[in-house]
Amino acid sequence: MGVNSLYKTLWRKLTASLVFAVTLFFFSPQVLWAQGAAAPKGDAKAGQTLFQTNCASCHNPVSKLIGPPLQGVDAKVPGGMPAIYDWVHNSSKVLASGNKYFNDLYNEYGKVNMTHFPSLSNQDIDDIVAYVDSYTAPSSAPSPSGAPSGQAAPGSSNSLIFGILTLVLAILVLILVQVNSNLRKLANDKEGIGNPKPVPFYRHKRNIFILVIILFFVGGYLLVDGATTIGYSKNYQPRQPIFFSHKVHAGINQINCLYCHAGAEKSRYAMIPSPNICMNCHKVIDHYTGPALHNDEGKLVDGTAQIQKLYEYTGWNDQEKKFDRPGRPIEWTQIHNLPDFVYFNHSQHVKVGQIQCQTCHGPITTEDEVYQYATLGMGWCVNCHRTTKVQFTSNGYYTIFTKYEQELRSHQIDSVTVEMQGGTDCNKCHY
Ligand code: HEC
Ligand code: HEC
Ligand code: HEC
Ligand code: HEC
Ligand code: HEC
Ligand code: HEC
Repeated sequence: MGVNSLYKTLWRKLTASLVFAVTLFFFSPQVLWAQGAAAPKGDAKAGQTLFQTNCASCHNPVSKLIGPPLQGVDAKVPGGMPAIYDWVHNSSKVLASGNKYFNDLYNEYGKVNMTHFPSLSNQDIDDIVAYVDSYTAPSSAPSPSGAPSGQAAPGSSNSLIFGILTLVLAILVLILVQVNSNLRKLANDKEGIGNPKPVPFYRHKRNIFILVIILFFVGGYLLVDGATTIGYSKNYQPRQPIFFSHKVHAGINQINCLYCHAGAEKSRYAMIPSPNICMNCHKVIDHYTGPALHNDEGKLVDGTAQIQKLYEYTGWNDQEKKFDRPGRPIEWTQIHNLPDFVYFNHSQHVKVGQIQCQTCHGPITTEDEVYQYATLGMGWCVNCHRTTKVQFTSNGYYTIFTKYEQELRSHQIDSVTVEMQGGTDCNKCHY
């Protein structure tokens, strides 16, 4: 009797802790995700885009590039925001007016003429300043949730957390089951009830059944996954001749993708930048002072030595600040490569379809070394064409589709997908 009630309290405690563990399991990752996605301010958000497209090639909010860091300029520039409006709209005019502050700055920054931005409104400039003032540099260490600064989708490290938690729970459940059966045996012994002959764990019919089911699903998944991805090179990540970090350039220093991959908006190919585009900045930036860099094997990479490699390729003599020998091209290893019988056009997707680079290329601004994010398989293209609604009404490129336009207006349909425009016709992608 005593043993039986002991058994009951013990069992109650164990179930309680199991419930607790399960609750923890379901809530903890969500809590982490919620922390990762901090809500940005409205103005600063608009300012971010404006900053990245217009200013980031020369300015960083917090560090010196071609121009000075911009965080806190509104407090720093004599005359405050109105003076900044004038400067951004037409810097030459401000310099010509003899403004001492700006002329000193101009001399300090090697007499570089800042681009004129007559088309930016005062509100735009306010937004940009709101953005640079609210900017905090992304930390080099990955955030605990694995989603760096709330930008990237919760990715593999969350699955890892889930995996580990699941494993821990599975072990916990096993232990509990074992404890339960031992306690029951103990209680039965005490009360003089005979125990059935124990069946060894591995010969228990139920366990064998569960094992078969698991093997069936895992095996099936691996088989299907393997068979449908033959010839795909998802996750392909070659070693490049220079350790060029997208995280440093497009992430921390906010350089616009199109600054280097200008073709993505205008042509079929995004194109890899030529060394003289690199030298626009690296004539001045000759050493690396950012957060420590590691390659995919975890080895420390010396950023300054990598910039020296760039000088070797381009024939730049950094002591004398001039090119003193002929340059040679950098042999970047191509990562993405569709078969020749497929037609894919970047500008159609980036400019007309207005799809973000990251949708197809993944969280590049957090990567030191680029890898292939999508399968680039036919199923990948076609699925997206089936589900993506084109921004039909406000898009000048679609005026030819008058039938859909009329149907939209008379509410016969509420959206147009790429497929409805013929985006799944074989001859659109194959020729
Ligand atoms: C071509 C490079 C370039 C671009 C693009 C550029 N700037 Fe500048 N900016 C400079 C340089 C260089 C200076 C330092 C003064 C000089 O040499 O003209 C400067 C100075 C400034 C200053 C004064 C900073 C201080 O410390 O007082 C402000 C404000 C400024 N820029 C804002 C902007 C904004 C806003 C944009 C984008 C809309 C922008 N700049 C785009 C190069 C650039
Ligand atoms: C400062 C210049 C620069 C900027 C900015 C930049 N890239 Fe790159 N990108 C490169 C260079 C150089 C390579 C080739 C070396 C490599 O693969 O890392 C490259 C490679 C790539 C590749 C792989 C190309 C292949 O071989 O298939 C993709 C995809 C890519 N970039 C996308 C982006 C996106 C998206 C952005 C913006 C978030 C961006 N890049 C910003 C310079 C740049
Ligand atoms: C718009 C300016 C700009 C352009 C264009 C640019 N860089 Fe950089 N680069 C930077 C800045 C800023 C840093 C970081 C410096 C620091 O943190 O001290 C940097 C750092 C580096 C580093 C050291 C860190 C790392 O990524 O390994 C290398 C190497 C490098 N750049 C190579 C290149 C190459 C190659 C190109 C051309 C494909 C290029 N850069 C184009 C601005 C630029
Ligand atoms: C709809 C998906 C999609 C979008 C959006 C997209 N890309 Fe690509 N990207 C691809 C595919 C597919 C390839 C392989 C093309 C090939 O092999 O012909 C590729 C290849 C590349 C390459 C390798 C060199 C080249 O010219 O083909 C670079 C660099 C690149 N993309 C950069 C970008 C940048 C930067 C953006 C955003 C401005 C972007 N991509 C947007 C799908 C996309
Ligand atoms: C993330 C979604 C997405 C992915 C992935 C994608 N596309 Fe598209 N694609 C679009 C959108 C949106 C348009 C519509 C642009 C337009 O209306 O012209 C489009 C249009 C096209 C068109 C023109 C269709 C027409 O009706 O004229 C072709 C060709 C095309 N894509 C080829 C490809 C190929 C090849 C791939 C795979 C390598 C691919 N796309 C992957 C979204 C995608
Ligand atoms: C949105 C673009 C797109 C459309 C539409 C499309 N394909 Fe493809 N197709 C691809 C891409 C990308 C590949 C290469 C990658 C791969 O093999 O999956 C491919 C590969 C293939 C292959 C080579 C076999 C293989 O898997 O390697 C065949 C055959 C093919 N397509 C037939 C068709 C037929 C038939 C249609 C019309 C019903 C069609 N495709 C429509 C993009 C497309």
